[in-house]
Amino acid sequence: MRVLVTGGAGYIGSHIVHELRRNGVHTVILDDLSLGHAESVEGFDLVRGDIGNRDLVRETIISQRIDVLIHMAARSQVGESVRDPGVYYDHNVRRSLELLEGMREAGCKRMVFSSSAAVYGEPKTVPILEEHPALPTNPYGATKLCFEEALGWYRQAYGFGFISLRYFNAAGAVPEDRLGEDHDPETHLIPLVLQTALGRRERLVIHGTDYPTPDGSCIRDYIHVVDLARAHVQAAKRLSAGSPGAIYNLGTGTGTSVKEVIAVARTVTGREIPTQEGPRRAGDPAVLVAASSRTQAGFDWTPRIPLRKIIESAWDWHSRNPDGYGGL
Ligand SMILES: NC(=O)c1ccc[n+]([C@@H]2O[C@H](COP(=O)([O-])OP(=O)(O)OC[C@H]3O[C@@H](n4cnc5c(N)ncnc54)[C@H](O)[C@@H]3O)[C@@H](O)[C@H]2O)c1
Repeated sequence: MRVLVTGGAGYIGSHIVHELRRNGVHTVILDDLSLGHAESVEGFDLVRGDIGNRDLVRETIISQRIDVLIHMAARSQVGESVRDPGVYYDHNVRRSLELLEGMREAGCKRMVFSSSAAVYGEPKTVPILEEHPALPTNPYGATKLCFEEALGWYRQAYGFGFISLRYFNAAGAVPEDRLGEDHDPETHLIPLVLQTALGRRERLVIHGTDYPTPDGSCIRDYIHVVDLARAHVQAAKRLSAGSPGAIYNLGTGTGTSVKEVIAVARTVTGREIPTQEGPRRAGDPAVLVAASSRTQAGFDWTPRIPLRKIIESAWDWHSRNPDGYGGL
């Protein structure tokens, strides 16, 4: 199997390419480094370019004899997508369609796609099954859903095989591989908590403490990036073996509140972590937890890494790299 990973120099992508290499898979990265870090993929075959460059996509697939694409490259901040939806439709739909066309021209028809729990919108039932209605409440989720739908039509018309993985909250790090989370700006809870523990932020704002949850803060499903990466290797193998694919959630099935995350982080770091209560953020559902039974059965996969270990691995990386990759 030969795999091309778009966005492979990003947070999740870099963990996936290392996991593919551990599994002996020939791996090439296509990334424009607009948000990613070349340091995280040193020694990998990196094609620096845009997914919207159809000619580059076609030539790369042909010259590298690629069988399967893992499509991670995207814009992925909910708040930014509300302020500037055009950028999200441009990257997550328009350029991603150029990528699909480049694949079609090259005769490569298998894709693992990074989708998101954001496609569900405000859940009516929790844990969320894949059959739950997809009614996104922001442009980020809408663009992910739009591309999933395009993949469905490409399957019907052109015989594409695709596996869409709807991630819940990816977190954690692999400090042994010098891999961690470094977004700019950072919007994810665990790095924000740990940057506060390091004194890089004065305090952590808890957005909403009046949700209908036991402690009033939002509940999310945190999955370690390595568990996530293992599922991608399985998905790529399935497609390579001829599976037509399907849509799967990628979460653990366990919900943890913001306040619980902070409490675990305090015990892991031994630091105080000052907090401040703030208002709810528009469009933030109270609870997002995956039903993971379809994924576990479909991939013969179970998430192995519990929340405490997720936070320990992230703390290890952040405390060694307080300036992120810029400090390496
Ligand atoms: N982090 C999460 O918890 C989470 C949750 C749900 C879904 N996702 C999805 O997973 C994927 C990866 O997320 P991440 O947190 O690793 O993001 P990231 O921003 O760290 O990585 C994205 C990578 O894509 C590259 N890229 C962006 N636009 C590009 C373009 N037009 N051409 C080429 N390269 C481009 C960036 O340089 C970067 O390396 C995204 O598709 C995101 O929507 C992430």
